[in-house]
Amino acid sequence: MLKPNTNYDNLKNSYLFYNISQKVNAYLKEHPNTHLLRLGIGDVSLPLPDAVIKALHEAVDDQAKKNTFHGYMPECGAPFLRKTIAAHYNSRGVKISNDEVFVSSGASDELGDILDLFDKSSTALIMEPAYPAYVDANIMAGRKIIHLPAGKEDGFLPSPPKTAKADIIYICSPNNPTGAVFNREQLKSWVDFANRHGSVIIFDAAYEAFIEDILLPHSIFEIEGAKECAIEICSLSKTAGFTGTRLGYTIIPKELSRGGMNLNSMWVRNRTTKTNGVSYIIQKGAAAVFTDAGQAQIKKNINVYKKNAKILTNALDKPEIWYCGGKNAPYVWMKVPDGFDSWSFFDYLLSEAGIIGTPGAGFGKCGEGYFRFSSFGNPEDTALAAERLKKLFSR
Ligand code: MLT
Repeated sequence: MLKPNTNYDNLKNSYLFYNISQKVNAYLKEHPNTHLLRLGIGDVSLPLPDAVIKALHEAVDDQAKKNTFHGYMPECGAPFLRKTIAAHYNSRGVKISNDEVFVSSGASDELGDILDLFDKSSTALIMEPAYPAYVDANIMAGRKIIHLPAGKEDGFLPSPPKTAKADIIYICSPNNPTGAVFNREQLKSWVDFANRHGSVIIFDAAYEAFIEDILLPHSIFEIEGAKECAIEICSLSKTAGFTGTRLGYTIIPKELSRGGMNLNSMWVRNRTTKTNGVSYIIQKGAAAVFTDAGQAQIKKNINVYKKNAKILTNALDKPEIWYCGGKNAPYVWMKVPDGFDSWSFFDYLLSEAGIIGTPGAGFGKCGEGYFRFSSFGNPEDTALAAERLKKLFSR
C-alpha cells in the first residue's frame, strides 16, 4: 500500500490566503451587494505597462510565423532574458554572469522548489512573522524548523542567534508582512553568520523595487561574502504587475558550494530535469520590463502603490496606533487595538468598514496581535478604506 507524505498532517488545515477568501466569500453570500475594499493579499491592481503589452503582442505574432516560432525554451531561461537580468544587476554594481541567472515562473514556486538542493535533514531558520509558504514548504519536506521570533523591540529585524545554528536561512527584505527592511550592516551580520556555520541564505527580494532610501540594499549580493552563502529569489509580480502573468528569477552564484557540491551546477541539473522552461511569450514580455521605457513605466505604477501606502499610514498616524512599514515596502503592519486579536480585528474591519486586510496570526505566532494592509489595491478603494479607518479609530 502506498504511504502518502504524512508530513502534510503537520500543516494547518488550509493556506492563509485561501482561508481569507473563504471567509470573504461567505460574507459576500450574506451581503451580496457590498463593495469590499481589498487590502488583503498583495495582488496588484494596475494593468501591465505598455512596453510589456507591446512585447507580449509581438511575441504572440512571432509564434504565428515559421521562422520566428519557438517550441521548448531553454530550461534555465532564454539567453536574451538571462543576459538582460544579469545586465540589470551589473548596472547596479552587482557583478552577476548570465549563467548565474535562472528564469522561473515566479518566486513563490521557486521558494518551494529550491529546497530540492538541500538534504531533508537540514534545518530551516525562519524569522517570524513570515510569509507562510516558507514554513509550509519545509513542513511538507519534513524539515525541522527553527522559528526566530521578531517583534516591535527589534523593529522586526532580528539579529542572528547567539547559540542556535541553521542550515537554510530565510530572509525577506523588504519584509512580507512587516515592511521592515534590513540595512547593510544587519545583512552583513547574517552573511557572516551563514559563512561561519556553512548555512545557505535564501534571500527573497520580491519587494526590492519599493526601496527608495539609497542606503538600503536591494540585493544580498551587495553585501561582501554573500556570493559564498546566498541564493536570491526575485520576481516581476510586485515590480511589474506580473502576478497573473508569472515570471521570476533566481540568482545562484558560481562560488556557492556546500559539501563539495556546486549549487549552481546542481540547479542546472534540477531545472533541465524538472522544467521545460518558461513560455517564450512571457519571457519576451519580461525582457521589456528592463528597457528604458519599461523601467519608467513600472516606476510610475510603483509610485501609485507608494502613494496608497502613504494614504494608509496617514490614516494610522495617531499616538495610540503603532505601525511600521509602508516606506520602502508595500505593506503596512499595525498593532491591533486593545480588546482584539488579529482574526477578530479582521472580522471587525470586514463587517464595520468592508475592508479586507490580513490577520497577523496568519504569518506565525509572532504575528498575533498585528494586522497587515497591502498597498497594491486600487487607489480609489485605498482612499476610501483610509477614510473609513480614520472614522473607526476616532470612535
Ligand atoms: C502576500 O500577500 O503575502 C503575497 O501577495 C503572497 C504571494 O506573493 O504569494
